Amino acid sequence: MKSFTHFLPLLASLAAASPIDLTKAGLHNLFTRQDIQTPINASLPNITIFATGGTIASQGSTNTQTTGYSIGLGVQQLITAVPELLNISNIAGYQISNVGSGDINSTISLTLAHMINAELSKSSVSGVVVTHGTDTLEETAFFLSSTVNSTKPVVIVGAMRPATALSADGPLNLYQAILLAGSPAARNRGVMITLNDRIGSAFYTTKNNANTLDTFSSTEAGQLGSFVNQVPYFFYAPAEPVGRTVFDLANATSLAKVDILFAHQDMAPDLIDSAVQGGAKGLVFAGVGAGGISSKANVAAQAAFNATGVPMVASHRSADGLVPPTSDDDFIISSGYYNPQKARVLLQLGLTIGWGNEEIKEAFAKSLPVP
Ligand SMILES: *[C@@H]1O[C@H](CO)[C@@H](O)[C@H](O)[C@H]1NC(C)=O
Ligand SMILES: *[C@@H]1O[C@H](CO)[C@@H](O)[C@H](O)[C@H]1NC(C)=O
Ligand SMILES: *[C@@H]1O[C@H](CO)[C@@H](O)[C@H](O)[C@H]1NC(C)=O
Ligand SMILES: *[C@@H]1O[C@H](CO)[C@@H](O)[C@H](O)[C@H]1NC(C)=O
Ligand SMILES: *[C@@H]1O[C@H](CO)[C@@H](O)[C@H](O)[C@H]1NC(C)=O
Ligand SMILES: *[C@@H]1O[C@H](CO)[C@@H](O)[C@H](O)[C@H]1NC(C)=O
Ligand SMILES: *[C@@H]1O[C@H](CO)[C@@H](O)[C@H](O)[C@H]1NC(C)=O
Repeated sequence: MKSFTHFLPLLASLAAASPIDLTKAGLHNLFTRQDIQTPINASLPNITIFATGGTIASQGSTNTQTTGYSIGLGVQQLITAVPELLNISNIAGYQISNVGSGDINSTISLTLAHMINAELSKSSVSGVVVTHGTDTLEETAFFLSSTVNSTKPVVIVGAMRPATALSADGPLNLYQAILLAGSPAARNRGVMITLNDRIGSAFYTTKNNANTLDTFSSTEAGQLGSFVNQVPYFFYAPAEPVGRTVFDLANATSLAKVDILFAHQDMAPDLIDSAVQGGAKGLVFAGVGAGGISSKANVAAQAAFNATGVPMVASHRSADGLVPPTSDDDFIISSGYYNPQKARVLLQLGLTIGWGNEEIKEAFAKSLPVP
């Protein structure tokens, strides 16, 4: 997919006061707040959209094109395309990036965490929506679930079809995300993902199909709720995912480098050494079965661990399932229920705040329900 990788001209509008200063954190310090409607309707919830790019912000050259389109619609254009949004909320928007989600990096994630925490701390703000490419949407959702400390709704939304497609899904997905972010029933449920009428927990929802509209689901944990005629219906009372850790990243300016290695028959040892030599501070294996790697890869991993202490986490390459806890003396840490991409985020966060192996092990073990 083609993508623009430019940030909006951040420093261009020094006059437009930014509510927070990220320079101290070494991050981009000015994002222009775009207030969409004046005057605002004080009886409607105030929702802030953080736009990052992705298919929801994309256009194809024909209305039947559903791959190979280009990103580039700004937050103002996303909102303008759905004027109905202004009847259900007062919207402000920030353009944080305009990239395909494969290019979401630690600068963007940390900026989102800082800005969303600041936004939700305002009493007038009811909730926030993040528009994002679907390919790595679950990673940003899990990252925010682990770094945003608020009872207010944070909703991550994307689209599988570009804005120009016949039956584009972006506009209704965005409408539902805004509804959800403003809904009192959506509070105290952690970060949520909504697409295709479904509401899922950021903790367990994953992208299952590279192409189809019904791609997001969480087969074992299930959905939290669904939309029917634009009403969010929840199946359960508000609950936190078991074992959620919230990290205070107030002083973080970058995230630790963690690589994922995909296991397969006869997995060779060399990628492990190359990852460690390349500066990885942690490794996650997308292991075979319940977290396995080949015997020779295991020897190389243990040697690398003995030599460097780089923590190694075993997750599963199967779409779902759990890696049971390893024994106390095993150098490999079990990912529990976390899939490789979420295990990577959790390991990055732990390493970023200076955790050692024991604390990391504990954070992963917390996802397993206490018998
Ligand atoms: C992350 O991506 C943005 C936008 O493409 C870029 O401005 C920034 O420098 C990148 N950060 C890192 C650490 O690569
Ligand atoms: C403000 O929103 C409320 C609730 O939807 C609606 O009843 C009212 O008509 C709106 N007021 C204006 C001036 O649009
Ligand atoms: C929305 O913001 C306005 C202006 O700050 C405020 O008066 C209003 O109470 C807010 N609406 C809600 C539902 O909090
Ligand atoms: C907003 O609500 C008003 C009053 O109910 C209605 O007349 C108008 O058509 C609505 N606008 C949109 C874009 O839905
Ligand atoms: C989250 O917020 C609660 C309540 O304001 C506070 O007690 C707690 O220390 C915060 N946690 C983090 C990690 O910031
Ligand atoms: C961030 O740095 C400040 C100043 O050094 C310190 O007081 C504070 O405890 C740090 N916060 C965290 C979460 O590390
Ligand atoms: C790593 O260290 C452990 C404990 O000292 C030892 O039993 C093991 O043989 C070492 N493994 C390798 C491959 O160096």
